[in-house]
Amino acid sequence: MPEQNHKQALQNPIFKILSEASRELGVDCYVIGGFVRDYLLQKRIPKDIDVVAVGSGIDLAKKVASKLPGKPKISIFRNFGTAMIKHKDLELEFVGARKESYHRHSRKPVVEDGTLKEDQERRDFTINAMALSLNNADFGDLSDPFDGVSDLEKKVIRTPMEPGITYSDDPLRMMRAIRFATQLDFSIELKSLQAISEHKDRIKIVSKERIVDELHKILKCKKPSVGFSLLHQTGLLHYILPELTALEGIEEVEGQRHKDNFWHTLEVVDNISKATDDIWLRWAALLHDIGKAPTKRFDKKIGWTFHAHEFVGSKMVYKLFKRMHMPLNEKMKFVQKMVRMSSRPIVLSEEFVTDSAVRRLVFDAGEHVDDLMTLCEADITTKNPRKQNKYKNNFILVRQKIIEVEERDHIRNFQPPISGEEIMEAFDLKPSREIGIIKEAIKEAILEGEIPNEYEAAREFMLKKARDLGLN
Ligand code: CTP
Repeated sequence: MPEQNHKQALQNPIFKILSEASRELGVDCYVIGGFVRDYLLQKRIPKDIDVVAVGSGIDLAKKVASKLPGKPKISIFRNFGTAMIKHKDLELEFVGARKESYHRHSRKPVVEDGTLKEDQERRDFTINAMALSLNNADFGDLSDPFDGVSDLEKKVIRTPMEPGITYSDDPLRMMRAIRFATQLDFSIELKSLQAISEHKDRIKIVSKERIVDELHKILKCKKPSVGFSLLHQTGLLHYILPELTALEGIEEVEGQRHKDNFWHTLEVVDNISKATDDIWLRWAALLHDIGKAPTKRFDKKIGWTFHAHEFVGSKMVYKLFKRMHMPLNEKMKFVQKMVRMSSRPIVLSEEFVTDSAVRRLVFDAGEHVDDLMTLCEADITTKNPRKQNKYKNNFILVRQKIIEVEERDHIRNFQPPISGEEIMEAFDLKPSREIGIIKEAIKEAILEGEIPNEYEAAREFMLKKARDLGLN
């Protein structure tokens, strides 16, 4: 196939500098990988530029840096033979063309110098192996020996070599295949999919951080379920997030069935992805039902139950984050809180929505009450239109009431209107149990709607409560 010219992709002056530097060194160089792929997909021109030199990538990086204004710093990774320069909003990665094979038990490559084609062949996918020449003689020409362009047209993820070799060389690529399929809405070639299933256990040698990085990228997609069902179909998910695969299946006892909580979860994740880009809220959707596997019971009178699954699930969130080397900070606490509270608005929406129930919800969820509502709305996956309408309308009502109650009572960031000190002063008390009782009673009266969340009303209530306790 005649290779096309794509000078228009290379209009940024940086490419002329790269070209000059490589000519002066007498090594050929090319831009390769994601830059070429995304440009050909007619996405915007990417800011990450991977450059491959048929020679030393580090030497080329040094030459380029010496030509750039301000002589930017080069980060050199000698072990990998790579270098990186940040220039304006661009990130340039340099590598020497190589052929390489990997040790069986690690992702550390044994590197040998190679030609451009050898370098392209050892890359993950045909759509990531296309290169544009930066050399004077054929500046902008596309080199595509594995037919990445037609794979872009056919929307297929395919490996340049036998997929088994590509994946076992670097098992992270199994997740990358699934991630690209999800991001780009491509399918994975059958042979490749089979190879992933066959080599799935090799994912064990990949660091947790890299796995999570790919999971984040899948979760950021428009329809994350595509990626999670591929992870499930290939068996990778069982190694990565067994808490999720444990939710799969429908059991029937005495004619009573429960829903398949795995597929339900994927629907919830897709639903929430239409409503929010917040990655942690999407994580909450993914994990909101994980407590259902360990808590599932069958009771002759009530049928299937998942008693306290929200609480159990929130404990599991901590263990999962820890195992996956994810942050154990306020993000994790947020996910835990969402999981723990995930049934609260649902219970509300099933019955008549009272002001006091809404006030309690706002009090407990605090600043995250809107996120919680978003999660619960996404959780409606019933196919029964009557039920669906009922839940949706009730949630609209709950949202309205949240606004009304908030305007009136300011519960979201609740501060007790009467402090402990004031109670001590009013009744000449030392720190004691009674103060706690009075404070709690004031809070309860506000949440129940007996008194407004105002100082005067709270003070009057305090005096009455103290009388009841025999304090004045
Ligand atoms: N690559 C590879 N195997 C990997 C990782 C990367 O062969 N496990 C190659 C691919 O050619 C890829 C290039 O290195 O295109 C750059 O990798 P990276 O920056 O991680 O990915 P991009 O393709 O640029 O895509 P994205 O930025 O969306 O991850």
